[in-house]
Amino acid sequence: MITLKFHGHACFQLICNHVSLVFDPFLTGNPKATITPDEISCNYLLTSHGHDDHLGDTIGIAVRTGATVITTAEIAKLCNEQGCATHAMHIGGKHTFDFGYVRITPAFHGSGVLGGHACGFIVNFFGKTIYFAGDTGIFGDMSLLGRLENIDYALLPIGDNYTMGPSDAAEAANLLRTANVVPMHYDTWPIIAQDPTAFKKDVEERFKIPVHIVNPGEEITLH
Ligand code: NI
Ligand code: MN
Repeated sequence: MITLKFHGHACFQLICNHVSLVFDPFLTGNPKATITPDEISCNYLLTSHGHDDHLGDTIGIAVRTGATVITTAEIAKLCNEQGCATHAMHIGGKHTFDFGYVRITPAFHGSGVLGGHACGFIVNFFGKTIYFAGDTGIFGDMSLLGRLENIDYALLPIGDNYTMGPSDAAEAANLLRTANVVPMHYDTWPIIAQDPTAFKKDVEERFKIPVHIVNPGEEITLH
């Protein structure tokens, strides 16, 4: 059984067979967080870019737990200098770990670190394929990602202003040919307030793709 747990904003945790992986652990200062960084136990941290609401508590959790940080080379260097175990990758690269593989995808967004790139992740986790888009605008090559990978769940930002908004995220879901969508990166602050129910209705009506709204602190089982 694979569990996807939402810790608020863009912080998700995948759990299966005592292996756990956390995306973008922004908990300290996250008004929607329902867990503290000290309560996180995981084997891997996947950090999409250097902005505070994504790099977040990566270093603290990695140092305390010994979890390996999987990220782009520039952020890996930064984490490594702070005493974290890291696995540096870059856009287009794929690597196999004990849980499955990770492919680093482009994300059209600032890197938050000198000379770096923002990224997304396609993670094959015990046979399920999860696309964590990170912070990004929509891009046409999402259809290429959908051709290269059989995406079971796409975790897509819908907050607008800094990333895709709901209508672009709906189109992204269609480009990706994903089987399911989970919205993220909304309602953390007033500037990214959105109605996930309206997004769900739109995607399900227009594209027949199920949308799972997961509130902070909640989890779903991936089918
Ligand atoms: Ni960002
Ligand atoms: Mn962000």
